[in-house]
Amino acid sequence: MNILILGSGGREHTFTWKVKQSDKCKNLYVAPGNSGTDQIATNLDIAATDFPALKKAVLEKAIDMVVVGPEDPLVQGVHDFFLADEQLKHVAVIGPQKAAAALEGSKEFAKAFMSRHNIPTAAYQSFDASTLEKGYGFLESLKPPYVLKADGLAAGKGVLIINDLEEAKAELKNMLVDAKFGDASAKVVIEEFLDGIELSCFVLTDGKNYKILPTAKDYKRIGEGDTGLNTGGMGAVSPVPFATPDFLSKIEERIVKPTVAGLQKDNLPYKGFIFIGLIKVGNDPKVIEYNVRMGDPETEVVLPRLKTDLVTIFQAIANQTLDQVSLVVDDRTATTVMVVSGGYPESYEKGKEISGLEAIEGSITFHAGAIKKDGKIVTSGGRVMAVTSFGNTYQEALKKSYQNIEKLHFDKMYYRKDIGFDL
Ligand code: AMP
Ligand code: GLY
Repeated sequence: MNILILGSGGREHTFTWKVKQSDKCKNLYVAPGNSGTDQIATNLDIAATDFPALKKAVLEKAIDMVVVGPEDPLVQGVHDFFLADEQLKHVAVIGPQKAAAALEGSKEFAKAFMSRHNIPTAAYQSFDASTLEKGYGFLESLKPPYVLKADGLAAGKGVLIINDLEEAKAELKNMLVDAKFGDASAKVVIEEFLDGIELSCFVLTDGKNYKILPTAKDYKRIGEGDTGLNTGGMGAVSPVPFATPDFLSKIEERIVKPTVAGLQKDNLPYKGFIFIGLIKVGNDPKVIEYNVRMGDPETEVVLPRLKTDLVTIFQAIANQTLDQVSLVVDDRTATTVMVVSGGYPESYEKGKEISGLEAIEGSITFHAGAIKKDGKIVTSGGRVMAVTSFGNTYQEALKKSYQNIEKLHFDKMYYRKDIGFDL
């Protein structure tokens, strides 16, 4: 079959790398892709949210399957767009429809879904500009730190965790009245602070059946010791050592099963990945958030461990026969370390030439914010390369990633040297 992958990050390079290994894949395209996907597939210069241009390409290239990497096209309804078009409706789209993508697109929707289906999560209330005073009252009833979440998509920046009550009130007003995050903060969810260690669980569903992929833990802060600003993710480890069989079965029984059943009950059409951000409070898992896609850089450690053919899995998702597929997973640990542009997640320069890629040995380099320009590979984003390695332990895998990263170079390159420090 001919397959099109949407997106341009490390996650999408990893999808491309894995799909490319399938005998079932004939022609492979990525829109818009990066310098990594360019080496193993055909990049199309189309934004992942440009639906009319995607339609044209899908018809021209006789694409049979579209795999959606990032959340934006899903939240904007790319799957619905395909289903509603006579010429496109036969194309399998991997990713939920718009109504279900609201699990990521609206924090309030996700919280209401969880409370409706008794899925453990932090207590919350939501507010808009007309209920600002009530919001102040709710903050006064909570103990610090205060967790404020912009309802809509805010490029990963919409969550504020604040220790001081007066500052929390000022930020609430900032978000609701002064549109700190634009339309995304027209509503704000305020929730109870949960104290614990985070991990992520990835679920595949065809809308009826589900399969659980390996767990992973990512490192979101820019600075060592989990300090400084939040980023998209600076590294990841899979499996998560503290996710014992007993803890995993709690996740499955209390969270995964009611989530998939809840999607069906609420009539939310879902064929794709569910990324469940979790926090371990005591010995119990609670949901921090849903994402309607795979994580980045979690994909760079989860997919390399998956031995099962990914196109076979995607076909089963499209045909609602996921119960007939069994997942085979590599027992080894995979780690990835993100190499980023100096300055990220604030302002940084682009267009820096990357050298040393050919010297990497025994790790897989997934390109993220990197493109080919005049025959050279140059930086084009904050997160530039993810260097993934296997090991019998996470320490062994990390050692390989770090040895290889030392061979890479570009101006103002930065990476965290402490991935896995808290395990
Ligand atoms: P989110 O965008 O919802 O994943 O939130 C970003 C980060 O904020 C999470 O990864 C957590 O580290 C933190 N966070 C979100 N909600 C809570 C909460 N209720 N309690 C503690 N930390 C939270
Ligand atoms: N690494 C977190 C995310 O993809 O949202």
